[in-house]
Amino acid sequence: MFPERVVSGMRPTGALHLGHYHGALKNWVRLQSEYPCFFFVADWHALTTHYDSPDVIEASVWEMVIDWLAAGIDPKQSVLFIQSRVPEHAELHLLLSMCTPLGWLERVPTYKDQQEKLADRDLATYGFLGYPLLQSADILMYRAAYVPVGEDQVPHIELTREVGRRFNHLFGREPGFEDKVRDAQARLGSRDARRYGELRTRYQEQGDATALQHGRALLDASSKLGQADRERLSGWLEGSRRLILSEPRALLTEASRMPGIDGQKMSKSYGNAIAMREDPAAVTRKIRTMPTDPARVRRTDAGEPNRCPVWQLHQVYSTEQTREWAAAGCRSAGIGCLECKQPVIDAVLREQQSFHERAQPYLDDPTLVRAMMADGCDKARELARDTMRDVREAMGLAYR
Ligand code: TRP
Ligand code: SF4
Repeated sequence: MFPERVVSGMRPTGALHLGHYHGALKNWVRLQSEYPCFFFVADWHALTTHYDSPDVIEASVWEMVIDWLAAGIDPKQSVLFIQSRVPEHAELHLLLSMCTPLGWLERVPTYKDQQEKLADRDLATYGFLGYPLLQSADILMYRAAYVPVGEDQVPHIELTREVGRRFNHLFGREPGFEDKVRDAQARLGSRDARRYGELRTRYQEQGDATALQHGRALLDASSKLGQADRERLSGWLEGSRRLILSEPRALLTEASRMPGIDGQKMSKSYGNAIAMREDPAAVTRKIRTMPTDPARVRRTDAGEPNRCPVWQLHQVYSTEQTREWAAAGCRSAGIGCLECKQPVIDAVLREQQSFHERAQPYLDDPTLVRAMMADGCDKARELARDTMRDVREAMGLAYR
């Protein structure tokens, strides 16, 4: 019923690293040519955990956007914006909070996990409990179909679906709904109206999923419906409510196997990251000093790639041929570790070269980024206003 939009956000908490690139960003770049995409800086989400260091957030916002552009996110294809510049997100969060059971939020696994993990911060706040609901508002606002996220975020998308469903259930019941459905159905024209009715019956009585699909396709294809009538008929097709908000699905981002320079998962908090736009000399030094298979004490000791973090970098960066060369050379002690690392260093530097090149115009002229984000915020806001109009009306807040 709604175009298949993609929405995702990232918290601005510092420079992005290769793990972000090979995990999330590469995926975003691919998606932007397939769907209308909305990518935003989740600055309010960053505040829920870092409310005592707002300066870090402020400094990170523009750097992070430049990292996105460096990765190949194209502002001509994707809408890029800053969450706090679209204050409708806060309004939707508030309105959703009215009807979200407290237990739903307390049961989200990240709630307790993060409180334990970040024990040095006081996260017994109202805002932190609401973190996943704010995320739901971010997503529902754009009536998104897909949300590309990592595994850890899947419970938040599940919550979003439940919140959306509950909202439709509670507020999709407008006065005179059934009459309005009948009028909308008539507007389809007699042939489509009859077919719609049959498909609905087949779906509702027999749970026939194909009938549901055909029914949705029929509504999508019809040029005779306005948005509100489309929502009514979609809702009626599936149940007996108007669908005001959509139920999005997670597009699981494959976990990045990017090791940090100590062999653990790359993460800023472990201090083992290589930034996307790191200085080439630092990249070279970091990889050259990376630990390898501890069995290779001397150059003449054979090693086992599967025990070596550098090998994981070869998985990301090397061709089949280079990998064969490295594995054989390692197991026979035919090559030294520095030799083995060189093609990885070259590949990382080559990749970063394109990051640096894409970022340069924005570093030279910071007003470009500001203007681009202002434009994205305007576009996002336009959609957000539409959604809020429907939401307010459904909740009885559209005083006239
Ligand atoms: N919670 C997400 C994270 O930590 C960031 C986020 C905020 C987000 N709002 C979102 C992701 C909406 C997807 C959609 O990664
Ligand atoms: Fe690791 Fe390569 Fe050294 Fe083998 S040769 S231990 S794979 S760096």
